Amino acid sequence: MTDETLPQEPQATLLTRVKDSVIRDPLPPADDRGRMRVVMNSLILHLHPAKVSKPALKFTYTFGLGGLLLLLFTILSITGVLLIFAYTPSPDAAYASMVALQTEVYFGNLIRNLHHWSGNLMVVVGVLHLLRVFFTGGYAPPREFNWVMGVMLLLLIVGANFTGYLLPWDQLAYWAVTVGTSLLDYLPWIGEPLTRLLLGGPEVGAATLTNFYGLHIALIPLAIAALVSFHIWRVRKDTITVPKAIGEKPSNEKVTTIPHLVSLELVFALVWIALLLAWSAFVNAPLEEAANPAHSPNPAKAAWYFMGFQELLLHFHPLFGAIIVPGLALGGMFLLPYLNRDMESEGVWFRSAQGRWQTGISLLLGVVGTVGLVLLDEFWLDLPGWLPFLPSYLTNGWVPLAALLLLVMGYYETMKALKSTTCEARQAVFTLLLAGFVTLTVIGIFFRGEGMALVWPW
Ligand code: HEM
Repeated sequence: MTDETLPQEPQATLLTRVKDSVIRDPLPPADDRGRMRVVMNSLILHLHPAKVSKPALKFTYTFGLGGLLLLLFTILSITGVLLIFAYTPSPDAAYASMVALQTEVYFGNLIRNLHHWSGNLMVVVGVLHLLRVFFTGGYAPPREFNWVMGVMLLLLIVGANFTGYLLPWDQLAYWAVTVGTSLLDYLPWIGEPLTRLLLGGPEVGAATLTNFYGLHIALIPLAIAALVSFHIWRVRKDTITVPKAIGEKPSNEKVTTIPHLVSLELVFALVWIALLLAWSAFVNAPLEEAANPAHSPNPAKAAWYFMGFQELLLHFHPLFGAIIVPGLALGGMFLLPYLNRDMESEGVWFRSAQGRWQTGISLLLGVVGTVGLVLLDEFWLDLPGWLPFLPSYLTNGWVPLAALLLLVMGYYETMKALKSTTCEARQAVFTLLLAGFVTLTVIGIFFRGEGMALVWPW
């Protein structure tokens, strides 16, 4: 295959020849550019099928979120390896090594910023990708197990962020990890031994830093790499869902991966790399004063992605706020594709016209209802004070949980009464709960001040 013949060939023939040449012909092609092209094409065709659905390439279907996650993971791996050269994982030296990295190492600050912002963005994009898949029915058979893999990936992404949070060993890191790990303590029976195992002792210290460092640079990235490989392989095997209009059959139209998909991916990746570089050049990752175990800041807040749970703890008995409610939510996420098997709406954003407006209403109700309930609990509701003879796991645990479950069931039945399909009604409940959790997170981050009292953010 020579350079001159390549452009004149039809795409399908070219692809077949590229594949054939890789399989049959162990000798490299005549010139360097041709050889490079064969290697690149072969690599691309290992990741992607030779042809992909044309409608699925539409940007507003996937928003490229899965690809963006891959890009972020790659950026994190590269910048992470570079950071290892400058970082010392011991309480005496960690903070100083971060300061030196920012002030004495060429591009050290930029590399740290890129790593920090890409990691945080990965949590947001992971959730958005999950929502894209959920609202387009992308987990319908045969993709149920890939959804489960996805939920595990999201947990690993949060785990990677959380373990990385401690490494700068500043006040923010020390106390956010102290608060975050204290949530585990509420697990019945195994809570205390598990927390000790993770911390390497009774409190955050040198052993915690060693544990978190090992998890952050080796175990969690390896687990993510393994699961992502499996995830992408499954996407390729099951093929991506095809967007369609309500009541229509999905189109079978296909285009070749090279150049249609690959050129889009390249432009998308370059735009994101440029945005991240620009952001990291101007916005520094936070670094407060060195950790001081004797002086806890007020308020001591968890990392932002745990603020929804910290907010829940202000309203529920710890066992319920830290374990039972999040446990139920996580169990629901894992089971979702096995409960919701509506193949008809696969590929339709929000499932139907009715699904669309119900999602909007549920979003609004979730936000307004959660703000209302937080205010009610803060300024008026006081079950433990009104019923002092009952244990607090009843007044602050079972009773509010039962009320919440009744509310959710009532909402589901109302949606059914409005002639929703089971799928639409479940989508409405999911949106309501999601909006509630996001609102709790926003309240926790921006509207909690000294002593975790409600304050205006300004
Ligand atoms: C590191 C994390 C992840 C990476 C790199 C990743 C990557 C991808 C890619 C490249 C696709 C192809 C379509 C697209 O871009 O949307 C995809 C599809 C899919 N992802 Fe992910 N993903 C990740 C996390 C997740 C999570 C958190 C979930 C959900 C819990 C999930 C569930 C799925 C499912 C079910 C599909 C098939 C959807 C369809 O066919 O429409 N993934 N993923």
